[in-house]
Amino acid sequence: MKEVMIAPSILSADFSKLGEEIKLVEDLGAEYLHFDVMDGHFVPNISFGIPVLKSISKLHNMVNDVHIMISEPKKYIQKFADAGAQIITFHYEACNSLQEVKDVIDLIHSYGVKAGLSIKPNTPVEVFDPFLKDLDLVLVMSVEPGFGGQSFIPEALNKIAYLRNAIDEKDYDCLIEVDGGINDKTAHLCAEAGVDILVAGSYLFGRKDIVERMESLR
Ligand code: DX5
Ligand code: ZN
Repeated sequence: MKEVMIAPSILSADFSKLGEEIKLVEDLGAEYLHFDVMDGHFVPNISFGIPVLKSISKLHNMVNDVHIMISEPKKYIQKFADAGAQIITFHYEACNSLQEVKDVIDLIHSYGVKAGLSIKPNTPVEVFDPFLKDLDLVLVMSVEPGFGGQSFIPEALNKIAYLRNAIDEKDYDCLIEVDGGINDKTAHLCAEAGVDILVAGSYLFGRKDIVERMESLR
């Protein structure tokens, strides 16, 4: 089984020492830094946005993996690209048509940024089908977006397996990422199903045994 990559979600970090928290997970070998943007409209929570991304995006050498849980994503792509996003993952459910999904993917690419598409737990995995050839990443939510610390929804495993098969069959260059309720147990279930990147927030940040916890995910 290929080695999974780790994307710590800073939503669960201590924001009074965000720089130190980022350095800690980088030193522990995280390849991606997961940046959860929430607008209080698409999801019932507000997190952080462009000024914070601007201030941290150059602090480290991990991939700035920006997950925008916002309405009207098209309006903000340039701002996140300019602030240092290297992947921008938006939500299928935030778009009003298939054409809009395609337009947002093309817009992200026009700024030289990788494009990701995410679906909520109740959205069927087949909605990815028309976009897989254009996407750099697909994000399967294994919790209802909006909060860290929730429990893993096992149906996510079927979606990961479906995507693994679809991507390998056509040899697409598209990474599979899973997000929500990832811990030492669910991580291995996701890896067996074929995931490439694990997002983990509350399992890692604020924990005294973060070194062992990081190792337990691989
Ligand atoms: C939830 C976010 C997730 C969340 C993960 O809407 O997209 O990235 O921060 O947190 P944990 O790992 O605690 O479930
Ligand atoms: Zn996320």
